[in-house]
Amino acid sequence: MAETLRIAGIPGSLRRGSFNRALLRSAVELAPEELEIRVHPLDDVPLYNADVEAAGVPPPVVALRAAVEAADGVLIVTPEYNHGVPGVMKNAVDWLSRPPRPQAFDGKPVGLMGATPGHFGTRGSQYQLRQSLTPLNAFVMPQPQVLVFDAESRFDDDLRLADGRTGELLERFLAAFATWVRRFRDVG
Ligand code: FNR
Repeated sequence: MAETLRIAGIPGSLRRGSFNRALLRSAVELAPEELEIRVHPLDDVPLYNADVEAAGVPPPVVALRAAVEAADGVLIVTPEYNHGVPGVMKNAVDWLSRPPRPQAFDGKPVGLMGATPGHFGTRGSQYQLRQSLTPLNAFVMPQPQVLVFDAESRFDDDLRLADGRTGELLERFLAAFATWVRRFRDVG
């Protein structure tokens, strides 16, 4: 059997009833056996502040950085706010971009997914995140994309995935992501 790939899953929403948290949970459930996705919520990550950093990086940030560094790949599942990346998610990227060098995303394969009750499936948010991750030398998988629009119709009242086509898309994405992550591990 293929060696297990450890994936740090990061949800970009703090909301209890979050569609993006639900989408990440679905990814954990549907992941091929070779992908072990651990979820790292951002609830305790404070706002980036250079003064706070200088006084000592807060433990939730240290833990998040360690999780990303130890992972073979990172799966970010985030909403879109005002056609861009929500502050919560961008704040985490900003913390993770900080020294010590190499910073946490350097050379990491990354997958992006997102869900919205709206029409465009978090396209703007994913695009911005790609822009921020590229100078950090992260390798964001180009295709396939998971842009879940009309999210209210895809999940049941318990926020379990209730849409077969979205499930199939997720499985395709996760299989491609496993190949993507393995590719970087094999050359790393
Ligand atoms: C939104 N929402 C939103 N949706 C979208 O598709 N494009 C957008 O630009 C925005 N902008 C936006 C701004 C702000 C401040 C909020 C609070 C919301 C709606 C958003 O997709 C919706 O609230 C999702 O349910 C948020 O994701 P979670 O929390 O369900 O994962």
